Amino acid sequence: MPQHPFTIVVSGKGGTGKTTLSSLLVRSFIELGEKPVLAVDADPNANFHEALGVTIHETLGSMREEAFTRKIPPGMNRHDYVRFRFRQSLVEAEGFDLVAMGRPEGSGCYCFANDLLSECMTELERDYRFIVIDTEAGMEHISRGTIGKPDMLLIVSDPGARGLRTISRIREIATQLGLEQEKIHIVFNRYKTGTAPIDIGNESPIALLPDDPEIEAADLTAKPVSQVPPHSPARIAVRKLAEKICSLKKAQTNT
Ligand SMILES: Nc1ncnc2c1ncn2[C@@H]1O[C@H](COP(=O)(O)OP(=O)(O)OP(=O)(O)O)[C@@H](O)[C@H]1O
Ligand SMILES: [Mg+2]
Repeated sequence: MPQHPFTIVVSGKGGTGKTTLSSLLVRSFIELGEKPVLAVDADPNANFHEALGVTIHETLGSMREEAFTRKIPPGMNRHDYVRFRFRQSLVEAEGFDLVAMGRPEGSGCYCFANDLLSECMTELERDYRFIVIDTEAGMEHISRGTIGKPDMLLIVSDPGARGLRTISRIREIATQLGLEQEKIHIVFNRYKTGTAPIDIGNESPIALLPDDPEIEAADLTAKPVSQVPPHSPARIAVRKLAEKICSLKKAQTNT
């Protein structure tokens, strides 16, 4: 029986570590044999590919502009052409594929285009064990409902009191959109030993990612963050998180 992919949306305030976590998660799932993984860059300022060490040639946004306006090759209808171009915009790498959504549309009616692209996405998604969606800062994607209902929503936050407001705001919107509480989890990032993370009520964070000089070094030298050495503390912590998610997925499949 074909497996249903497990979809994870990584959300949070600007600069909290969404892309870092997303790329380390992709890497961990591959290491755990949970592949192929689909990496989706839902941030219009696409940079998930850099964190994963691959190159993108176009985003779905730019592809849409082109595929729906240019003359299509003889013998092809627009529907087939869009499907063909959609497949072309997918980046294929070792253990994972990546698709970058690009900018949302400007003015004009894109209903046909969007319906067709979401049909392509739905078809594509069936091929993967895990789908990791890196989003833009804030709650736009959640409030617009563009991301649908994931199996898990990870809210990345710094472990200090400043993060609390964003956490509750994202949680509130996700809940209003019908996402079950048990699917929403908090990840504290850049945790420094010796400081206590803020109290988030009667739950505990699903992961605590340490502040990691290896991540900083990768950033400074423009190396893909997913390729930090295996002993890097943040990488180890994300690997543990990935193992936890695999167990949750298994438990969900067995019920
Ligand atoms: N655990 C960590 N240890 C050290 N540096 C980190 C850690 N996590 C993230 N960073 C650094 O913090 C910065 C922001 O990280 P990242 O780009 O992953 O955040 P983001 O939430 O995706 O940002 P944006 O909202 O701009 O998309 C980067 O310079 C990254 O290297
Ligand atoms: Mg980012």
